[in-house]
Amino acid sequence: MPDSSRNMFWQSLDVGKDARSTLKGQKTLCLWFTGLSGAGKSTLANLLEKRLHETGRHTYLLDGDNIRQGLNRDLGFTEADRVENIRRVAEVARLMTDAGLIVLVSFISPFRAERRMARALFEPGEFLEVFVDAPLAECERRDPKGLYAKARRGELKDFTGIDSAYEVPENPELMVNTQQCSAAECAEMIIERILRA
Ligand code: ADX
Repeated sequence: MPDSSRNMFWQSLDVGKDARSTLKGQKTLCLWFTGLSGAGKSTLANLLEKRLHETGRHTYLLDGDNIRQGLNRDLGFTEADRVENIRRVAEVARLMTDAGLIVLVSFISPFRAERRMARALFEPGEFLEVFVDAPLAECERRDPKGLYAKARRGELKDFTGIDSAYEVPENPELMVNTQQCSAAECAEMIIERILRA
């Protein structure tokens, strides 16, 4: 633990999460999308945010590709950097639910331990892990950013699914297969589950 954190105390504040979310008329949620690059996480999260926004929900979408150009621009793709990437975004997502928002997180988040760490930051029932499933061969066929081809040519190291592991979720709250269902169908399934939550 860094030396500075030893002398830190938690400051209690008068306006809390319940007050903030009540004002927004919503129940806070963290929808955590995990899956291979090219599986369709961002497409799906984007579609869902649009649907939630249209129904008057206050949302925010944290997307790996975007956060890595700002807050996490100092991080690469080694195991240690991915762990730190997820730690930071999980903390940000927690702050956002504390602000009363429904937050959507779209990161590969390849390791079970870090997804478990993220889950532990939220209240029971507040964190929904969504496994966006598509076979590696299908993601590689889509290759929207040309990164699989680069990784296969040896021009990109530590690429998830090629030479860096992806640990499949064991008990996700939701699982969608983007090879078998369209993004709109997957979004519909998730919306139904959220409205029931
Ligand atoms: S994570 O593994 O640390 O959760 P994150 O979701 O933030 O990954 O970023 C993944 C995105 O970074 C991919 O969609 C892809 O566009 C890009 N990327 C660049 N290099 C790599 C790599 N070595 N492995 C995976 N994705 C990479």
